[in-house]
Amino acid sequence: MVSAATSTYSTADWQLGYRSLSQEYDYWISELEGRIPARLRGTLFRNGPGKLEAGSQRYGHPFDGDGMICAITFVDGKVHFRNRFVRTREFEAEEKAGRVLYRGVFGTQKPGGWWANFLDLKFKNPANTNVIYQGEKLLALWEASAPYRLNPKTLATEGIETFAGGIAAHQPFTAHPRRDPATGDLIAFGVRAALNSTLLFYRLDPKGQLTEKREYQIPGFAFLHDFVWTPHYRIFFQNPVAFNPLPFVLGWQSAGTCLTLKVGDPTRIWLFPNSGTPIQLETEPGFVFHFVNGYEAGEQVIVDAILYEEYPALEPNADYLQIDFTQIPAGKLWRFYLDPKAGTVSRELLLDRSVEFPAIHPNCMGGSHRYLYIGTTHVPGPNAPLQAILKLDTETGRTQQYSFAPRGFVGEPVFIPDPDSHAEDEGWIVTVIFDAASQRSQVVILEAQDLAAGPIARIPLRHHIPYGLHGSFTPQVWVE
Ligand code: CO
Repeated sequence: MVSAATSTYSTADWQLGYRSLSQEYDYWISELEGRIPARLRGTLFRNGPGKLEAGSQRYGHPFDGDGMICAITFVDGKVHFRNRFVRTREFEAEEKAGRVLYRGVFGTQKPGGWWANFLDLKFKNPANTNVIYQGEKLLALWEASAPYRLNPKTLATEGIETFAGGIAAHQPFTAHPRRDPATGDLIAFGVRAALNSTLLFYRLDPKGQLTEKREYQIPGFAFLHDFVWTPHYRIFFQNPVAFNPLPFVLGWQSAGTCLTLKVGDPTRIWLFPNSGTPIQLETEPGFVFHFVNGYEAGEQVIVDAILYEEYPALEPNADYLQIDFTQIPAGKLWRFYLDPKAGTVSRELLLDRSVEFPAIHPNCMGGSHRYLYIGTTHVPGPNAPLQAILKLDTETGRTQQYSFAPRGFVGEPVFIPDPDSHAEDEGWIVTVIFDAASQRSQVVILEAQDLAAGPIARIPLRHHIPYGLHGSFTPQVWVE
């Protein structure tokens, strides 16, 4: 455990952010501290597990929790809040039954012991990982199945999105598509991981129509949560994990706990050109869940990624609320220099501290970025929950930070460009923090150019939002 002298938070405070929010709200926020910039106009959509149990059974891992979408609308200096659960078939069935009916990928077993789980390969799609607006479609994403489509105005669930039959209802579709700023296309992928894995490439045009679908086989088990897109490549880091399906198939363990590190194996980096044969490179072993961005610079491709040098293993039957943060590996920010022609990779540590949830200016996607924003711990050192937002200037190496410690816990920062400006860091960082003192969440706005000055607005919600995953901003507004 962290000693009281060095801890910047209390575990009891942190645990409070993992209570379910069962109620669905619609309201204008009346009390707020600071000011909402007049030019900040649009909707920030967030996704994350809103409900962490079915009936009296707590899910084994928050990643199995039911997806709940929040829409935070900024308009004329005012803020509106709305949240709705994604009413997946499984959510409706479990609500009706009042108990867990499906296995979760990350740790939730159906009650009833191994025989209730025996050969039950049917996962629940919690639709809880990301939410993105493309071509009048609001999509709740979970990587192992097709998106759920929601009404962007009411957040009502409309159904599984198959893009006019272009993909099957249970076809994998990443929670991390990337938007090409030049065309507005959304570049995405899916992976069918097995002893050998199938990569599926998708592209959605600005109207939300599926305009590209390709398939590649790659050898080995591929656990791919995110990828890098550049104008000429899709890039994947195949982490050296092995999946032992036996305990899973037999019902002893959930799938997320059947991943093991293949000691001594390299990470394989795959560069898929827009046409032609993929290029394979190798680097030191490590695990990447999230990439910041990648871009082409002459012969090289530069990739910024959060790398875990050890796999943050999920212990079977462990209680996630009792985790000891100091014992879990920290993800750190690395820059990789890939040379597809020479077949070489080199790397450099950019931030020697625990970081997660990166953000950049959306117009820099696939091109070079100078600034990045990321969640981090209050101080470098032993791993701890994310309590601060950090800005890195990758040209000078200078950082700026604002921390919400000791009682605030931060979520993913989103960079919203100022529509009247052109500098890469002119805009706002918006994030949702959990404030343990009030046991409520707050939307906070920071000036990206002066992050260290702290929030220019704190917008307290009437309730908390359980710790979320990912989200995105669109300048469109639906509330009246
Ligand atoms: Co993610």
